[in-house]
Order: sequence, then C-alpha cells, then structure tokens
Amino acid sequence: MARPTVVVTRKLPPSVEHEIASRYDARLNANDVAMTASQIAEAMQYADALLCTVTDKVLAHHFEVDRRRVRIVANFGVGINHVDRGAAKKAGVVVTNTPDVLTDDTADIALALILMTMRRLGEGERHLRSGAWSGWRPTHMMGQSARGKTLGVIGYGRIGRALARRAALALGMHVIWYAPRDPVAPDDETAGPANARRVSSLEELLRESDVVSLHCPSSPETKHLINLERLMMMKSTAVLINTARGDVVDEYALAQALRDQVIAGAGLDVYEFEPAVVSDLRELERVVLLPHLGSNGIETRLAMGRMALTNLDAFFSGTEPPNRVV
Ligand code: 8YV
Repeated sequence: MARPTVVVTRKLPPSVEHEIASRYDARLNANDVAMTASQIAEAMQYADALLCTVTDKVLAHHFEVDRRRVRIVANFGVGINHVDRGAAKKAGVVVTNTPDVLTDDTADIALALILMTMRRLGEGERHLRSGAWSGWRPTHMMGQSARGKTLGVIGYGRIGRALARRAALALGMHVIWYAPRDPVAPDDETAGPANARRVSSLEELLRESDVVSLHCPSSPETKHLINLERLMMMKSTAVLINTARGDVVDEYALAQALRDQVIAGAGLDVYEFEPAVVSDLRELERVVLLPHLGSNGIETRLAMGRMALTNLDAFFSGTEPPNRVV
C-alpha cells in the first residue's frame, strides 16, 4: 500500500524529519519559508496529512477545497487558534495538538520574563552593549524585587499552574488566579504548592496584582482582553507578561499605557501579527520583546515532533490519535 503523503509545513529538528520520512511520503520544507495560503490549499488536495505550526493559518476555505484529500491536521504546538476547528469538524477532518510536553518550557519563559521586566534585565543588557555603562552605583537602574509580590495568573490551565508553582516556590510570590470557566483538569498537586487563591473577577485580579501573566487561549472572547481600560485598572508599578497569544493584548493600548506610565513594564513572547511587532512597542525601553521562544528547548521541540508523529501514526493505523482536539 502506498505510504500516506504528509506535508510538513516548516523545518523540524533533523531526527524528527528523519523519522517522518522513514514512515511516510514526507514533503519537507528544506528552505523553511512559511507556506502561503494557496500552497496550503494545494497541499490539502495532494496530501493525506498536514503537519503544521502556528505560522500556518488553516482556514475554512482550506477545509472546503475541491477534491480535498487531507484527513488529518497534526499541529506541532498546543495552541490551535490558527486552525479553523469548526470548519475541520464540518469537513470531518481530524485535528491534533501537542499538549503537556511544552508546559515546563513555556512556564520557564514566563518566569524569565517576570525577572527580565521587574529587574530591568533587557534594558540593562542593551545599556551595557551600547557602551553607556559608566560603572556600578547604588542607584543605577533600580528595579523591583519579586519576593512578597502578587502574581495574577489569567487562565489557570497547565501552563498557568506551572508558572504559579515556579513563582511561589522560586520567587516567593503570592499567587492569585482568574479563569472564567473551571480550568481543564485542576488538581491539588498543582494548586497546592503555589497556595494560589482564585479571585472572582478579572478586575479584582488586575487591581491586586504586581505581575499579571496571561495563560488563556486565543478565542473571540479573549481577543484584546487586555485593552486600555483594563490596563488602567492595574497598579502603576505592575508589569504585564504574555506568553499565550498576541491577540489577547491590544498592543497599541499597551504601548500607550507604557508610554504614559499607566503600568511599569511588559514582557512579551507573542504578538498579534507575528513576526511583525508594532513599532510603538519596539521603541520603548520598558518592554522585553522575545521572538516566540516559549517552547524552544531542543528536548521540547523533539518531544513536540514525536507527539505530532504519534498522532499521525495512530490515525493512519486506524486508532484514535491520543491528542485529538477535533
Ligand atoms: C509553539 C506555542 O512553539 O505550542 C504553542 O501553542 O505557542 C509555541 O510554543 C508554536 O505554537 C509552534 O507551532
């Protein structure tokens, strides 16, 4: 029987590509240039599976193409806001993702951004590299200590809880959290060590927190959840951290809030129009800007690749893919 054709939209770690090619007719992306919408549409017609990433928008019209052959979209990543799940369901196409394996890496990056913003580490590095550092002095570039401060976690799923644990145990922060719905699989093991307290409204969280960290998925309900009005509810000494999805924050409102010192700083790993970052933000000192590095540990990227492959293997052997979301 012919091996199923799998279009892999981006370059993956070599060992993962090797494994895919050993089992499938793999169409790899050696140049690692993001596919265009029409290339994705063509792939939907000649491939049996699409192994995609956050850089590929798989939209309703892709699922509706004439003579569609793709029967599974295996996403390399946990967030699947770039895949139209409603259209996939309607078309009978299976969608899978890669949860759990990137929880620790992403929580680590959120923790790093907390320290980078509170202690002004990005600014400090730029200062030294520019040659402007004139030497140590007691009042030079003073930041804020994390110990005893309150971290507010918005969205209390796997990554939000992993950050809560780190912030409580490693930094000595108090943790409060808010989620409109009950988080997926809450358990005592993760809520316990952080001694986190659930608050009843987003406004309460914004008013009480010294650090606000976003861990909710991107959805129509969370688009621009953090707008100017909500930024104005935060303490003027507070910082905002986003490792979730860019569109949860209105970036222009954030730039304005930073410029007007409505809040003290921000640490971002994700952007609404990646890889574009609004120039208003790039010009500001009090914001740390990372290029979507949340899951960038090599061990994690390998695990994500293996997980995507496990989902494909299950599907093509006629069993239920373990990480099916549609
Ligand atoms: C991934 C992420 O690297 O998994 C996610 O949702 O945001 C990232 O850490 C990216 O999505 C790869 O597709």
